[in-house]
Amino acid sequence: MDIQFPNIPLYQGWGKPLRTESTVDGLELIEGKVPEGLNGTWYRAGPDRQFPPMTGEDIFIDGEGMMHMFRFDDGHVSYRSRWARNARFLAQEKARRSLFGRYRNRHTDDPESAGVHGGTANTNMLFHAGKLTVLKEDDLPYEVDPDTLETGPRTDFGGKVTSTSLSAHPKLDLIRNELLTFSFQAKGDGTTDMAFYIFGPDGEVAHEMWFTAPWAGVVHDFAITESHIVVPFFPLVTTPDALKQGSSFYEWHDDKQTHVAVFPRRGTAEDIRWFKGPTTSAGHMLNAVTDGTKVHLDLCLYAGNCFPFFKTPDGRTSDPVPPILSRMTFDLARNDDSFETRPITGRPGEMPRTDDRYQGRPYRWGYLIMARANDGTSSVGRVDVTSGAVESWEHGQKISVHEPQFVPRAPDSPEGVGWLLVILNRLDQGHSELAVLDAERLADGPVARLHLPVRVRSTFHGSWVPEDALRTGRYDMKVAA
Ligand SMILES: [Fe+2]
Repeated sequence: MDIQFPNIPLYQGWGKPLRTESTVDGLELIEGKVPEGLNGTWYRAGPDRQFPPMTGEDIFIDGEGMMHMFRFDDGHVSYRSRWARNARFLAQEKARRSLFGRYRNRHTDDPESAGVHGGTANTNMLFHAGKLTVLKEDDLPYEVDPDTLETGPRTDFGGKVTSTSLSAHPKLDLIRNELLTFSFQAKGDGTTDMAFYIFGPDGEVAHEMWFTAPWAGVVHDFAITESHIVVPFFPLVTTPDALKQGSSFYEWHDDKQTHVAVFPRRGTAEDIRWFKGPTTSAGHMLNAVTDGTKVHLDLCLYAGNCFPFFKTPDGRTSDPVPPILSRMTFDLARNDDSFETRPITGRPGEMPRTDDRYQGRPYRWGYLIMARANDGTSSVGRVDVTSGAVESWEHGQKISVHEPQFVPRAPDSPEGVGWLLVILNRLDQGHSELAVLDAERLADGPVARLHLPVRVRSTFHGSWVPEDALRTGRYDMKVAA
């Protein structure tokens, strides 16, 4: 069968499927110098397209997983990308075509895909308790070799995880070496079951809790504090009967309120406090903090539908709305179920990250993709969440950026003292670059810029693993007392 990709906007220009695995031993330095002591590996995952989509259409969150790694070794930086060769990929490789139809709608798949999981393994990579995994929220993780990116088995952690999937947005508590994660639609597509898990430093399940969601919707991300878990529910809803009619996996129910569950870190379903507020949505949480009886959730909030390509059940589309970094405050001492929301900064931003050591802890700095312009360019910014002040890299070039990654200068550096790693898309030159910025001086531009002879088509999320953590399987990091 001829391989011909449809002429759709997603595949034009930078988004053209790349379908190439790369190995570059020693990236060429364009300018500056790779900081001394920056040793470790940055893992990221994103979507590509193995074969033209069955439906002739595509959405940016779909597509088979491509894993990427940058290994920093005393100034020598190497790059490697490999397909996530999971069940879906291998079945399609054999069939020489796509076997899965509309995003996550099994009723639109090719009969030849029967018995093969449609998980794409395209969203995030995580290293915990000595194991590297690649994640997508519709499936369980796949193990990955941390040196070669060879795909290993799909894992249910020795049978201890009984949910049908795990989130692609787990939270690593780098100080306690705990992994906190969850599953939505945890007993299969369209179910309202939620599972929450804590894995201890040994990689074993240390805590498990099940509860019921207000609807079978998407829960893309959640947040942790030192004492609480925060799970927001936005009204992008899966309806099994609609799926049978060929509908999109999610539909936007603008008649439903935002629901948020707040519960103790090692609580039970009976401990959940439910809060309700105006119809909003969000993909990504920056952080959360418990302060007395209050729990603050900082997130990139949309005053409407964050995924306008998911229509309402009656076919209405949504107007695009900008993501505004906002703080929701839930007061556990109040007697009703309402909460407050206020913007942290007026400048739109997405793909928020912190100094990962401060996930769940009192913090000051957030790093986001900012300054998105109509010509497709974007940059990175740092937000002071205590004042709303923003500092960004104003490059003035035909560049767009991927989600940034903060790396502390030393394991015990104060919050925000370190480097920001960013993949740059050179939109005018058709290839990528890797930039290292001083996280305290973003406006000064990169301290090092390295040339990638290929295009990194798209990555969503990733993790930095220090060289010693990769060897020992434990993170040895500190936060200010
Ligand atoms: Fe995400």
